[in-house]
This record gives sequence, C-alpha cells and structure tokens, in this order.
Amino acid sequence: MRKGVAYDMGLWPLEVALLRRWRRRLWSGVRGPRVLELGSGTGLNFRYHPPGVSVTALDSDPDYLRHSAERSRGDGGDAPSLVRGSAEALPFPDSSFDDVVASFLLCSVEDRERVLEEAHRVLRSGGTLRLLEHCKPSGRMGDIFSRAAPWVSERFGDRIDNEPTPLLRAAGFEVRSVDTTAGRTLRLIVADKVPAAESKGMDSPPEKPS
Ligand SMILES: C[S@@+](CC[C@H](N)C(=O)[O-])C[C@H]1O[C@@H](n2cnc3c(N)ncnc32)[C@H](O)[C@@H]1O
Repeated sequence: MRKGVAYDMGLWPLEVALLRRWRRRLWSGVRGPRVLELGSGTGLNFRYHPPGVSVTALDSDPDYLRHSAERSRGDGGDAPSLVRGSAEALPFPDSSFDDVVASFLLCSVEDRERVLEEAHRVLRSGGTLRLLEHCKPSGRMGDIFSRAAPWVSERFGDRIDNEPTPLLRAAGFEVRSVDTTAGRTLRLIVADKVPAAESKGMDSPPEKPS
C-alpha cells in the first residue's frame, strides 16, 4: 500500500471524530494573502485553505507530496504550490509570508528550535504562526508521557512529550492564544511575530479548553 494512503487510512477515525473540526479552526483565522503550510503531508489540510489566498505547501517527503498533488487536483479549489524541502532550512527569503501554518509538525521534525527560527524568519513582522499539535498532557499523565517519549520516538519517530510554547517564545514569537482539548493533548496555538521593540515582557495567555 502506498505510504500516503496508509497515513490517511490510519488517521481516518481520528479525523472523523475530532481532527476535521480542529483543522477547520486552524485555518479559519488565516487571511494571507501569502501563506506557507509547513509539513503539509498528504494534504489533509488542503480543503480548509481559505479561498483567495496563495498557499505554498512544503514537505520533505516525496511520497506524501505526490499524494497531496493528487488530492489537490481532486479538490477543485485553488491548488497550493507544492515544494519539496526541509522546514529546518526553508528555501524562501526573509519576510516572504503573512501566515505560516502547520499541523502535527513539531512532533515529527528533528530540530524544533531550528524550524521555529525558520518560520520566524520567513514571516513578515506582524505575521502569524498557527500550529495544531499533539502535546504532552498535564499532571501525572504528562510524567508518563515524558518517561515513554524516548522509546516512542525511537520506534515511531513521534515526539509525545511535545511542549511548544516555551520554544515559540525562545524563537521570538508572542503566543496570542492556546486552545486545548482531549486533556490538553491537542492544542491550537496562535503566535505572532511582533516587532522587536514591542516583544519585551509578554506574559502567557490563559489556555482555553474546548
Ligand atoms: C505527522 S505528519 C503531519 C502531516 C500533515 N500536516 C497532517 O496534519 O496530516 C508530519 C509531516 O511533516 C513532514 N516532515 C517531517 N520533518 C520535516 C522537515 N524537517 N521538513 C519538512 N517536512 C517535514 C513529514 O514528511 C510529514 O508529512
């Protein structure tokens, strides 16, 4: 079975039960007009791209990119430009996008700090990063996730102790909102690239469970 088909089939129950709703929310605030989707995978977000914006979708995996190209042809909307590349070394000039959007990327990449620095670099000042991520839950469950993380990461390449907010701040973003569900394991994070002079002394926004 092709890799992209296997990915979509494996995720399908969760898509129907939960993720479609959250993908729609992820994209609902995107105004563009220049939008970069990072780690676009098999193109499960494409149907939620808002009309009238120009989306560049980047992924490092050629099989997923091929699968997403077929999907975008079937969708009938504005097809995104597909780019094979690394989120750790984006092939775009500084300040070339108004929005950067990604779902389930930070749990997959090797170097999350570098990816966020790159997202910050290619965003214009005042631009927005929107992330949908599965994250480490709070409390005792979080401790269990932390202990199991190296084992899971080695076998499945997935980071279950993902905690993006401090990394976002370190990369120069101001976290505007964090919406959570499923015991805080699913989070929609919206963060802004603020001009340097305005970015001092920002506090964390409260998390909103949905
Ligand atoms: C868990 S999948 C998520 C795919 C899609 N965003 C979704 O929501 O279904 C992670 C994706 O990130 C891509 N990826 C992982 N590391 C990457 C990197 N360094 N640069 C670009 N894409 C990467 C993988 O190829 C894969 O398509």
